[in-house]
Amino acid sequence: MLLLGFESSCDETGVALVETDGGTVPASSALPRLLAHALHSQVAMHQAYGGVVPELASRDHIRRVLPLSDAVLAEAGRTLQQVDVVAFTRGPGLAGALLVGAGVACALGASLGVPVLGIHHLEGHLLSPFLSADPPEFPFVALLVSGGHTQLMRVDAVGRYEMLGETIDDAAGEAFDKSAKLLGLGYPGGPALSKLAEQGRADAFRLPRPLMHGHGLDFSFAGLKTAVLTQAKKLGPELEARKADLAASTQAAIVEVLVKKSLAALDQTGLQRLVVAGGVGANRELRAQLNVACAKRGVRVHYPELHLCTDNGAMIAMAAAMRIQSGLAVPAKAYSFDVRPRWPLDAIDTPA
Ligand code: KG4
Ligand code: ZN
Repeated sequence: MLLLGFESSCDETGVALVETDGGTVPASSALPRLLAHALHSQVAMHQAYGGVVPELASRDHIRRVLPLSDAVLAEAGRTLQQVDVVAFTRGPGLAGALLVGAGVACALGASLGVPVLGIHHLEGHLLSPFLSADPPEFPFVALLVSGGHTQLMRVDAVGRYEMLGETIDDAAGEAFDKSAKLLGLGYPGGPALSKLAEQGRADAFRLPRPLMHGHGLDFSFAGLKTAVLTQAKKLGPELEARKADLAASTQAAIVEVLVKKSLAALDQTGLQRLVVAGGVGANRELRAQLNVACAKRGVRVHYPELHLCTDNGAMIAMAAAMRIQSGLAVPAKAYSFDVRPRWPLDAIDTPA
C-alpha cells in the first residue's frame, strides 16, 4: 500500500511517500518504509515578523504543496495513480494552514478515487522514531516536546496513549523561543539559543526550575522567560558579553526539568523505554543528558532521525500507515473535511 502524506499545520510544508506490505498485524519487520520526503520551511519568510504570520503561512502552503508532491513522486519513481491512500494533518495547528493540507488531500483523493485519512499532528511526532534505524518497541514513555506542546505520555500501542503530565502554561519550545527573542536571537529561537549556549557556561546564572520537585509530572515554563528578562536587565550593558552564559543557563534550566520529569515518569510507570519526539528533541544538550541518565538506569532511549524531529510529512504518512496497519483507521472515500485546530492527543478517537 502506497501512502502520500501532507503536513501543513504551521510553518513547514511537508510531503512524503510511505509504503507498507499491507496486512493489519504490525510486526517490527513489517514497519512501513519511507520512500521519499520533501520539506519547505517558511522560516525565512516569517523571520522579518519575528514569528509565524498565519495568513502568510496558509498562502505559502498553497504554493508549495503540489510542487513538493511532484518532487517526492519523482524521487520515489512512482506516479500519483499508484497512490492508495492520501493522509493529511487534521490538527492541532493553525486553522488556515491545516485547511490547505486537508483541502488538497481531499481534492486529490476525490480525483484519484482513493480514500483519505486525517492524522493527529502529535501522533505523527510520537510515531516518528519508528522511521529511525533503531525503532522502539511498545510499551514506552514518550516525552513530546514541541513548540506548542510539552507532554509525558504512556504509550502501550498505536492509538493507546495515556497522558501522564503536561505543561500548565508555556511549552518547552516556547520557553526556548521566548527566551531567545528576549536575547535578540530572532525566530525560531530554539536552534539559535542552543547554538549560542555551546559557547557559554550553564552554571553562570541560577534560573528557576518550576515544578521540578513535586507537582507530579506536570511542567511550567512561563516563569522562565521572566527570570531571563530580569537577569538580562540586571546585566545591562554587560549583557552582550554574557549572552552565551545566559543562553547556556536558560537551556540548562529547561533541559534539567525535562530530564527529571522523564525519569520520574519512567519510575512511575515502571517502563524501561523512553521515546523523545518533537522539535525540542533535536536539542543536543537534552539528548546528551537523557542518554547519560538513561544509560545509568538501563533504560533504552529512542529519538527520531534529527531531520525528522521538527515538522515533516514523513511522520504524517507514517502515522497513517501505522493506524491502518493496526486496524485503528479505515480510510474512507469521503471527501468532505474539517480540521481540528485544538485537539488533545488523548481525545484522538472522540468525535469532533
Ligand atoms: O515540533 P516542531 O517542529 O513544531 C511544533 O509542532 O511546534 O517544534 C518546533 C519547536 C520550536 O519551538 C523550536 O524552537 C524548537 O522546536 N526547536 C529546538 C531545537 N530545534 C527546534 N529547541 C531547542 N533546541 C533545538 N535544537
Ligand atoms: Zn510539530
